[in-house]
Amino acid sequence: MLNGRIMGENRSMPRHVAVIMDGNGRWAQKNGVSRLTGHNQGMLAMKEIIKKADVMGIKYLTVYAFSTENWKRSQEEVGGIFNLLVKFVGSELAELDENNVRVHILGEYREKVPAAAIVSIEKAIETTADNDGLQFNIALNYGSRAEITRAVKRICRLVENGDLKPEEVNEEIISETLYTGSENGNIPDPDLIIRTSGEERLSNFLLWQAAYSEFAFTDTLWPDFTPEEFESIIEEFSARGRRFGGR
Ligand code: FPP
Repeated sequence: MLNGRIMGENRSMPRHVAVIMDGNGRWAQKNGVSRLTGHNQGMLAMKEIIKKADVMGIKYLTVYAFSTENWKRSQEEVGGIFNLLVKFVGSELAELDENNVRVHILGEYREKVPAAAIVSIEKAIETTADNDGLQFNIALNYGSRAEITRAVKRICRLVENGDLKPEEVNEEIISETLYTGSENGNIPDPDLIIRTSGEERLSNFLLWQAAYSEFAFTDTLWPDFTPEEFESIIEEFSARGRRFGGR
């Protein structure tokens, strides 16, 4: 058994699914609407996927909502995305809480992020802190290289203070020091990473954690991504055998 799965006879649900929600801008262009309207449709799609993941019994769902590179976009677009986050928390928090969903944020959400969004985020984290159903992780102001750099600095500090010897540094300690580590409940590595819109790359998302992840790429633009397509990707995943470097 590995990760709760029988190797080669993998018929079980992935524990952790991570999603790169790509294509809002192209969806907007295709439909002749503003980029922000595209992001709004993206948020609606995300809401449906959270519900579906919960119903399917997936334990961890992580979405890439805003990367450290996304600050390069226009102020209007950046502000609009954070306004959507505020809107999302305002309209969905009660239902998420009722459904026992726990919200976590991966990333430097206290840095650069507009104050109203920080208030919403903290409210979502606090309100759902005791829930033990689906763990919904929002990667926000997240970049994997920044995450690893931060972890290295933290480990250096432990060594500097004499709390850890260099030879004691191991993969487990590194994992625990990432955003997905102890500060967010030690989230297991993603079993499956889905990227929409036809792009096939990780874009600085969960680089360390993706060492053994399966990947699913679809041409569907994120706002058009449906719970049915999500389910069919999960079913395909469940039929694949994962060997984790073994036979
Ligand atoms: C990628 O599409 C999407 C984003 C950078 C933002 C994702 C945001 C949402 C799905 C909605 C809001 C989310 C929350 C958590 C409230 P893109 O703009 O890069 O699309 P393009 O590559 O077609 O231009």
